[in-house]
Amino acid sequence: MSVQAEIKRLTAPDMRARKGGEPIVVLTSYHAHTAQLVDRHCDIILVGDSLGMVMHGLETTVPVTLDMMILQGHAVMRGSRRALVVVDMPFGSYEASKEQAFHSCARVLKETGCGAVKLEGGRHMAETIAFLTSRGVPVMGHVGMTPQAINTLGSFKALGRVEADWGPIEDDAKAVAGAGAFAMVVEAVAEPLARKISQQVAIPTIGIGASAACDGQVLVLEDMLGLSPRVPKFVKRYGELGPSIENAVKAYAAEVRSRAFPGPEHVYPMKPGA
Ligand code: KIV
Repeated sequence: MSVQAEIKRLTAPDMRARKGGEPIVVLTSYHAHTAQLVDRHCDIILVGDSLGMVMHGLETTVPVTLDMMILQGHAVMRGSRRALVVVDMPFGSYEASKEQAFHSCARVLKETGCGAVKLEGGRHMAETIAFLTSRGVPVMGHVGMTPQAINTLGSFKALGRVEADWGPIEDDAKAVAGAGAFAMVVEAVAEPLARKISQQVAIPTIGIGASAACDGQVLVLEDMLGLSPRVPKFVKRYGELGPSIENAVKAYAAEVRSRAFPGPEHVYPMKPGA
């Protein structure tokens, strides 16, 4: 038996059972140390492909690879003990066929030890989601604005402001739920549509820029901490770490320049950090 068995990790079925109950708290993390902090307060840690922008300074999520997701997914699993860890499937790793999706997802589950994967897309991904879930891969869907489709969408904008546009997004959500996903991210859709989708599907909806009408919310950790240079308008900041880090770096640089740095007698043993 695993030595870590005392703390039971949350599972995809646990999250599925939260529909209509206590709101589900989700944040992204890509590193062991931030995962440890997030794990104490969140139900799900999403290893999002937003790591392409946040960690690597890329313009979009399109260049993110499966190996990048596996490396960071593994780090987050090492740093966390309780939350369900969901790893994003990157662009190009699952869309070609349901078999391609299964091979990529199996690598993610085996090599990271995470509890579920997330993939973008509605009706056109339903057959793949059904194939995966019937073969032991718990899937979180992602409908509404789907950032991996940036090159066909042209730009990121809120969806469903006009009721006439709701139909296809509702159909996507129903298809993803019907295919067996245990939850779905609903990104950047107007509140009345988010409410309607949340009422229509039997699985939890996790909103991002989609209002409190959803069953939970996800934010990118660095966005809500004030560490990202640009953030979407809906993001509330819960910290201003950018300026604090810069002040700390400035103070450090000044001390090193004045030779005020300690010798080895002040270094060991280690003291607790965060
Ligand atoms: O990649 C990501 O962080 C995401 C969330 C923003 C939903 O997909």
